[in-house]
Parts: sequence; structure tokens; C-alpha cells
Amino acid sequence: MNSSLRMNSLGEGYRALVIGANGALGSAFCELLNEDPKCSVVRELGRNSVPGLDLEKPESIARAAAELSEEAPYQLIVHAAGLLHRDEIKPEKSYSAIEADALLAVFQVNALGPALVLRHFLPLLDPRGAMAVLSAKVGSIGDNRLGGWYAYRASKAALNMLIKTAAIELARTRPHARLLSLHPGTVISVLSQPFRGASAARPATIAAHELLSLIDRLGPADSGNFFAYNGERLPW
Ligand SMILES: NC(=O)c1ccc[n+]([C@@H]2O[C@H](COP(=O)([O-])OP(=O)(O)OC[C@H]3O[C@@H](n4cnc5c(N)ncnc54)[C@H](OP(=O)(O)O)[C@@H]3O)[C@@H](O)[C@H]2O)c1
Repeated sequence: MNSSLRMNSLGEGYRALVIGANGALGSAFCELLNEDPKCSVVRELGRNSVPGLDLEKPESIARAAAELSEEAPYQLIVHAAGLLHRDEIKPEKSYSAIEADALLAVFQVNALGPALVLRHFLPLLDPRGAMAVLSAKVGSIGDNRLGGWYAYRASKAALNMLIKTAAIELARTRPHARLLSLHPGTVISVLSQPFRGASAARPATIAAHELLSLIDRLGPADSGNFFAYNGERLPW
């Protein structure tokens, strides 16, 4: 694969914003966008950036958006944050393992926080821009064949509904913008490390390149849909 990236749909000197910029996919997005000669700004947001954005602290989401409003509009916004496991939180193999605290934390990071990201960052999106949110194929209700992973699956399904709903509203006021839910495939990262099949996982740079190329190819008519990195439309 050609490793150089050139986004053609966002105009000369486009500005990009990446949320979750410290993660495997987030940092790969930032690296590729920084190398794109057409990109003039790559703003990197995460828990440790300035301004900081913590999905479990709603006020930090509002504050970060307010601080960046002077630099807006952004032609590209990528939300690359998410939570599958940490410390005492593990994906549940059975409904007998469902714990309220873990459900709340996973929903906070994967759905409630991103809902507030949509609220505060969609106003910063260029009317012809693209916002992509990383979801996961396991959040597809139609494709759920294995069960398990209750909190992660359900929070990503909720995320998908939030994206679809916001895309309908966005199309009324900014019909040339696109809001997409994207599945990156299995990617080498801290998030996937304990679970992935060794042979199936791809390096984050390859996945980020595929996803950015896909965003570039998709138009406003594709807004509000759920796509895999290879362009396949996924069932909700
Ligand atoms: N890797 C895969 O195989 C795979 C497959 C399907 C979908 N996805 C999705 O792709 C996205 C990126 O995953 P990844 O593989 O790159 O995982 P990763 O390397 O673990 O990155 C996760 C990112 O989420 C951020 N995050 C976690 N909790 C947060 C919080 N409370 N507030 C703000 N940021 C928070 C992390 O920030 P810190 O750096 O501050 O911890 C990190 O930047 C996720 O949405 C994931 O669900 C991944």
C-alpha cells in the first residue's frame, strides 16, 4: 500500500481535529494527517492534551470545544476514543458477569461522552466537512452471532443510534456535511491486545490509512451510515 495520504475531499489547507489522539488509532490518524500536504492543522485532543478532554467529565468536553471554537471550522473531525477493558473492567462472557459500575463506565466512555462530543463539536464542523466516529462491528445488533461483551456491544450500539440520529438532524441544516460511524477492523492496540486473534490484527497505521481513504471517498449521501474500513456497509 502507498503509505502517503492525500485527502482530496476536504479542500486545500484543511483543518483536522482528532479526539482520543493518544490511542493506537488516534495517534496513527494524527501522524498520517500531519504528513498530508493539504492539511494545515492537526489538533490533538485527549485526557492529557491542552485543553484536555475526558469523556467521563462532561464539563471538559464543553470546555475543550469552547476553547477550540476560534480555530473552527474543522473540515475533518475524527473521534477515536473508546473503552473495552481497564483495571477491574473486563468484557463479560455471560450475563452473570454484568456489573453496574463497569456498565456505567463503558457507557460513559463509548456513548454518553461521545453524545456530548456530538453536541459540542458538530457546531465546529465545516458545512462541507466530515466527522467520523470509531464504533465497532460487535456493536451491530444485526450481526451479533456470538453474544458476550455486554457493555461494549450495547454501548457501541447506543453510539451508532446517536450517530444516526445526529446525522438526520445535520442533513437538515448542513446537507453537504457527512457524519459516519466506522469500524476499523481488528487493530493492534492496548484495547484489542488481550482478545485479538494473533494473525487477524492489523497495524494501526494501515487501518487509519484505510479509514481516512474511506472518509475521503464517502459523500454526504453516505452520512448517517455504518461502514467497515473496507467500505462494506454494516447492518445496525
Ligand atoms: N483495536 C481494535 O481492534 C478495534 C476494533 C473495533 C473498534 N475499535 C475502536 O476504535 C477506537 C480506538 O481504539 P484503539 O484500538 O486505538 O484503542 P486504544 O489504543 O486503547 O485507544 C483508546 C483511546 O481512547 C481514549 N480514552 C479511553 N477512555 C477515555 C476517557 N475517559 N476520556 C477520553 N479518552 C479516553 C484513550 O485515551 P488515553 O490515551 O488517555 O488512555 C485512547 O486515546 C475505539 O473506539 C475502539 O472501540 C478498535
